[in-house]
Amino acid sequence: MDKTMVSKTTKNITIAILLMAFLTIYMYLYHDSTKNFFGKFTGAHVQINNTENCLSVLKMHNYKCSPDIPLDQDLIATSKEKEEPDTIVLIWMWPFGVSFDLRPCSSAFGIHGCHLTDDRGLFNQAHGVMIHHRDISGDLSNIPQLPRPALQKWVWWNMESPTYTNQIPLLKELFNLTSSYRWDSDIPVPYGRITESTEEEKKYTIPKKDKLVCWVVSHYSPDLKRSHYYNELVKFIDVSTYGGHFNKPVNDKEYSSLVSSCKFYLSFENSIHRDYVTEKLFNPLGLGTVPVVIGPPRENYELFIPSKAFIHVDDFPSPKELADHLKHLDQNEDLYMQYFTWRERFVSKPTYFGLEHACWICDHIRRNKHYKVVKDLNSWFWA
Ligand SMILES: *[C@@H]1O[C@H](CO)[C@@H](O)[C@H](O)[C@H]1NC(C)=O
Ligand SMILES: *[C@@H]1O[C@H](CO)[C@@H](O)[C@H](O)[C@H]1NC(C)=O
Repeated sequence: MDKTMVSKTTKNITIAILLMAFLTIYMYLYHDSTKNFFGKFTGAHVQINNTENCLSVLKMHNYKCSPDIPLDQDLIATSKEKEEPDTIVLIWMWPFGVSFDLRPCSSAFGIHGCHLTDDRGLFNQAHGVMIHHRDISGDLSNIPQLPRPALQKWVWWNMESPTYTNQIPLLKELFNLTSSYRWDSDIPVPYGRITESTEEEKKYTIPKKDKLVCWVVSHYSPDLKRSHYYNELVKFIDVSTYGGHFNKPVNDKEYSSLVSSCKFYLSFENSIHRDYVTEKLFNPLGLGTVPVVIGPPRENYELFIPSKAFIHVDDFPSPKELADHLKHLDQNEDLYMQYFTWRERFVSKPTYFGLEHACWICDHIRRNKHYKVVKDLNSWFWA
């Protein structure tokens, strides 16, 4: 190779490089017109917008520029037509043999796309089957005997505490989901909720009180912790007692006016378990009465309700000190009123047994299509 040959080759290579460079810059500007570095010097008005920009660059890679959110009525209508079919939840047996109103989940809780049914003929179409533990009654012939469709989820449903729930060994690995009062259930449904109050609910006054401490108890068993505590407490303070055990039964209507007329209510649970806080807590809270609780530790209660909304017996070394505190609050209106500060923003609402479970179960199944099994129900619930 001589010198002229070398310089000719160099010249060709240089031209090729220059051509490629121009091509690259051209492509760059064409595909990404935001990077218009000539624009600001020449004052050229290159109209670009994000949609254009996004389309030219991303479409080649089969990316989407924005999520498919329908913007106008037409789009909403067409997307509705394409919407997936309703999620069917079959209530295999009515809890405690008592049916409840299968109102639409949309009007009750704003949950859409659910079809609740008790029609066992829909078993093969059902996405979820709710099985209420108590109603198995220890007899496995009470659970569905038909082969389970591959994608169907069986839901273990129970609101009783482990102390009052029979353990059935064969249920160990039968279910896909759990629904109970426990926070760590797949679909937790506590007995009540503290929720933001509406303007209407904020206009609230604490009901008139003519009793200090009240207790309504239907099932009294002398061995329970609550019975021991009560028997000590009454030595130091007067307790107005009602219910079957005290031969003063109260019906639902009487219950509300009775409980709201007491400054304090003994919200004593029948058994002590994690998260097991029941209507015995949420009812007085909703009725404007301060609950005095026996149940899981204070920290556990504080997952459900504000710390200053209740009195825990564990806050006091003995029933006598608790009684002294209650008497002190009785004499000091300002201190007593502090137990209602939470009420300025919140309100206590009971949950709807059955319907609320069914609707949230449907919502869960609709959102979570993944495979799921409850590996060991018994060691979880009765731990
Ligand atoms: C952006 O460009 C797209 C595609 O050319 C066009 O349909 C849209 O109307 C433009 N948007 C604006 C705000 O100019
Ligand atoms: C549900 O659980 C059962 C029993 O463990 C299992 O055989 C089945 O595949 C599970 N189904 C789904 C959809 O997760």
